[in-house]
Amino acid sequence: MASRTSLFCLAWLGVGTAVLVLLLTSHTQPQRREKGRAESADGSSSVVEMAAPATSVVVLDRGNNTTCTVNLHGATVVSWRVNNQEQLFVSKQAIFDGKRAIRGGIPIVFPQFGPWSTGPQHGFARICRWELKKPPERLPTGDVEAMFQLLDNEFTRSMWNYPFSLTYRLILREKELHFNISVYNPGAETLSFTFLLHTYFKVPDVRRCQITGMRGCTYIDKTREGTLYQEHRDVVTINEWTDRIYQNTPLEHIITNVVSGRKMRMQKYNLVDTVVWNPWIEKAKEIPDFGEEEFPNLVCVEAGHVSSPVILPPGTVFEASQILQVM
Ligand code: BG6
Repeated sequence: MASRTSLFCLAWLGVGTAVLVLLLTSHTQPQRREKGRAESADGSSSVVEMAAPATSVVVLDRGNNTTCTVNLHGATVVSWRVNNQEQLFVSKQAIFDGKRAIRGGIPIVFPQFGPWSTGPQHGFARICRWELKKPPERLPTGDVEAMFQLLDNEFTRSMWNYPFSLTYRLILREKELHFNISVYNPGAETLSFTFLLHTYFKVPDVRRCQITGMRGCTYIDKTREGTLYQEHRDVVTINEWTDRIYQNTPLEHIITNVVSGRKMRMQKYNLVDTVVWNPWIEKAKEIPDFGEEEFPNLVCVEAGHVSSPVILPPGTVFEASQILQVM
């Protein structure tokens, strides 16, 4: 298991550039409405306009059939293939209309996790069209990097009347996907928000998955009116409708029996909580963009800062990161 210090350094190294770019440029650039095609000479990148701008996708291509596809709607990672093997679940009934959140992949939850009195459940970041701040670019290591940004606009202000700059940097490595997140507060008031990466892992059968790292953690059980419990098991298994917010979880979780029977390592920095969710049969029926037979094929293990809000004073930045690694 990575030590706290090494993960911290990794996160800071990774986020540093993003923060610099963010601070230098973010407040002068308006959000562009349309996206052109951009391909680098080494073939590491492409921006593809689909039927409508709402469904534009950006592809990070590392070679060897290792790719990451990001839909600018929500900057949602909709595919992560390692040696041609898809790692993420997207529902067959997912709707790509540029309005609703995409059911699967990795939607970004911000500035509100869960129901929200002034806006939609899980906030607006997953239903906004994001800016491609930096098209995919091959790094000297062979890895491929891209950066996305969401600024406040009329739509976000109608729900949450604050200025903000949210930057999302992805790096695709051979068997890893790195996520660096920065939220900058350029305004005069302190921001209070929650944040989460709602990762849907693809699995052959969720009943055979085990998730490590929760032992001793308290959790809010949303299937039992938010009652607080303590986890006594070494590994969490899922055999029913599960919707739990594990608090103060360690920096690393391992999920067993993901695609091809492999393990997935999740490392996280500054994302203190881990949500575990599977709707199971009955709840699946209530989700319009999800097939009821699909529930065995996903497990959501979601790194976030949700059981208490992030408090961000004026002129400061919140930084967080996640690394997913196919083992
Ligand atoms: C999880 C929440 O993160 O997301 C659940 O803990 C929720 O309560 C689930 O049902 C899916 O949310 P949505 O809004 O995408 O249907």
